[in-house]
Amino acid sequence: MKKKKKYFYLKLLLVLIVIIVILLILKFKIFTKEDYSIELIDNLNIEINSAITNLDLVKSYKNLEIVSTEEKIDTSTLGEKTINLVIKDKSDEQHDYSFNINIVDTTIPIIEGKEEFSTTLGNKIDLLAGVNVTDNSNEDIEASIEGDYSFDKVGSYKLYYVAKDSSGNEARKEFSLEVEDANLVNDEPQDDGQEEVIEFTTSKGFKGVTKNGVTYIDGVLVVNKTYPLPEDYGNGLTSTTTNAFYEMQAASKLENLNIYLSSGFRSYSTQDRIYNNYVARDGKQMADTYSARPGHSEHQTGLAFDVNQINDTFNDSAEAKWLANNCYKYGFILRYPQGKEDITGYKYESWHFRYVGVDLATKLYNNGDWITLEEYFGITSSYEE
Ligand code: DAL
Ligand code: ZN
Repeated sequence: MKKKKKYFYLKLLLVLIVIIVILLILKFKIFTKEDYSIELIDNLNIEINSAITNLDLVKSYKNLEIVSTEEKIDTSTLGEKTINLVIKDKSDEQHDYSFNINIVDTTIPIIEGKEEFSTTLGNKIDLLAGVNVTDNSNEDIEASIEGDYSFDKVGSYKLYYVAKDSSGNEARKEFSLEVEDANLVNDEPQDDGQEEVIEFTTSKGFKGVTKNGVTYIDGVLVVNKTYPLPEDYGNGLTSTTTNAFYEMQAASKLENLNIYLSSGFRSYSTQDRIYNNYVARDGKQMADTYSARPGHSEHQTGLAFDVNQINDTFNDSAEAKWLANNCYKYGFILRYPQGKEDITGYKYESWHFRYVGVDLATKLYNNGDWITLEEYFGITSSYEE
């Protein structure tokens, strides 16, 4: 019996130990000692405006349950961000996991713009007008131009649009600019299907082209009673013309002469007003001998001007004589010489000069016996009606 009692206590002790162990397991969850692990993405630099969630940043995990919902990470601003993750291990115990990521911008902006420009000497064009820059960081970025060029120098320029975002990502896009001299270069315009191009040959065998109402003969812009300009043509004296004028003026100063511009560019509407004032005063037939009808004035080309007194009192001045004998050196011609009224269609104008470039001007100067553009090219100057 004594032995039986002892055996009972032993069994009770065993049961108690089992119960205590079970309670311990339940209370302290001893099996959670099993390994768990989590691995986050290695490179915590995240590109700006990427569409990612906090769970995208978990590369792998073991013996864990991720509790965090898939939260979108705000990647719209550059800099450091803290990301929170909630995980549970097998014992259902919750662990808060917090780490930093860095929002960066490593993408270059995109530049959209015209790849080829062409213009004529002195006619400035806005090379950045149609350029559009977009960037992944939504920054308001403007392009600039890299490279040397001049609208006042004939050339074929290779240039770049450059755009840089605030993170230093720089985009470059090549484009070209052609600056041509419409007076000197025989650059026959291309027919791109939209332009009206009429080609002809003059009586002296020069090739002429009228493109959208503007006539070039042997590459030289010609305006007289036969060849008009469109109403919207012209926007001032070309810089080639003014630069050559200032050079000529400086040379004349050394001779103690005073030459100044009196009338430069005249628009179609200005010429319309001037011509019709003369018609009202002198009648159409008389006005046509000294004033061009609107659209027919060389002043609308931006290549012609009047100096000093715009009347016959200038004819015998020292300035008029010097100009008639020296203007060709600067690329100008005396456009309406004496004795050529029937050829040019206008009376002698000692004050009106036209830029054609030094080579042609020297030919037309003809050692002081001026040849007109009409004679040289073999063209007429007469109104249709
Ligand atoms: N006086 C010149 C011909 C003009 O009006 O253009
Ligand atoms: Zn004039």
